[in-house]
Amino acid sequence: MLKDKNIILGVTGGIAAYKTANLTRLFVKAGANVKVIMTPLAKEFITPLTLATLSKNPILVDFFNPENGDWNSHVDLGLWADAYIIAPATANSMGKMASAIADNLLLTTYLSARCPVFIAPTMDLDMYQHPATQKNMEILKSYGNFLIEPESGELASGLVGKGRMAEPETICNYLGNFFASKKEFENRKVLITAGPTHEKIDPVRFIGNYSSGKMGFALAEELAERGASVTLVAGPTSLSINNKAINRINVISAQEMYEVCISEFKNNDIGIMAAAVADYTTKAANHKIKKNDNCINLELQKTKDIAKELGDVKTEEQLLIGFALETNNEEINAKQKLKNKNFDFIVLNSMNDEGAGFQSDTNKITIFTRNNEEKTFTLKEKREVAKDIVNEIAIFTESLK
Ligand code: CTP
Repeated sequence: MLKDKNIILGVTGGIAAYKTANLTRLFVKAGANVKVIMTPLAKEFITPLTLATLSKNPILVDFFNPENGDWNSHVDLGLWADAYIIAPATANSMGKMASAIADNLLLTTYLSARCPVFIAPTMDLDMYQHPATQKNMEILKSYGNFLIEPESGELASGLVGKGRMAEPETICNYLGNFFASKKEFENRKVLITAGPTHEKIDPVRFIGNYSSGKMGFALAEELAERGASVTLVAGPTSLSINNKAINRINVISAQEMYEVCISEFKNNDIGIMAAAVADYTTKAANHKIKKNDNCINLELQKTKDIAKELGDVKTEEQLLIGFALETNNEEINAKQKLKNKNFDFIVLNSMNDEGAGFQSDTNKITIFTRNNEEKTFTLKEKREVAKDIVNEIAIFTESLK
């Protein structure tokens, strides 16, 4: 499962660093391309020469190559990697990661990595149990990092307990399973609504909104890549999509979107309501409405609430996910929609967060689940946000089994 995967191994200064020789060997044996970043202290525990030889790549420690002054770009490294595993991760490095301290290459690369990040902690029993360490680990998990739990046993200090870095085989299998489970949506059918709707006023005008459809399309692509068959019900948008696993159905109005969703939902395991559906529509005039000297009134009728109706007919086996884009009382409104529409979870984005919401290429989300869990993510590209949401769907589905 690790064949041709680009893996960055970040080694921090703990005694378990000696195990990274074997870990590197296992990654390489599994067909992965490995680049190793060490913190300055890690070099005291294992020589760069060992890891350079085993990984077949020069070791990266400094921001600049001391020999030729070349810049070791943490951004390029972060983009190159399919996975970043920090092993061993000391309490010190985890503390820095949790609070965005970036005083070495391992940490700057962590902050700019777009790939999944795995963390294998190592430390003494009491350090591990300290509430500050536990809190940092919770923070790191809440950022979407994967923690590979340390094992119990005899520690370097002579104490016995939890804190020993997971064995290289365990870490290697963990990553292998992660990539294998990338197809976890095989045989799953997903209905996604995306984009705005246009409610016709007359042959040349409509009521619309600023939704671009980018979030819904990114979700469709991510799910299709992870094995799902997707039905994408798209309102008017200039976006294109080219994936055999995605069946795109174009609609214009809220009523059209409603009809497609009502007939399709029963054939799907998961529904994701990412569209910005017009709440009101109007009876369209047959001819262009001419202006006159007075104001004119448009009579608006309520549209059908697609999400609410799907929530009402949802079976125990089906999952329904909603979105809430709010400008005020964000959390209260999102939680109300979660309940009223019978969603399994709702993705909140606030117009008050810079870079979030309609049109933008980025988004900042908080997820509230029906089990009263809450997870906040940082501002990311919508493609990355889609990964986070799909990861959450996978976790949620798993917890239902
Ligand atoms: N939604 C829907 N059909 C509608 C209105 C909304 O399917 N007619 C879905 C959206 O796709 C989203 C969720 O319901 O997943 C919440 O949409 P939103 O517009 O935020 O909520 P509304 O119920 O319309 O409430 P309001 O506009 O008053 O905030």
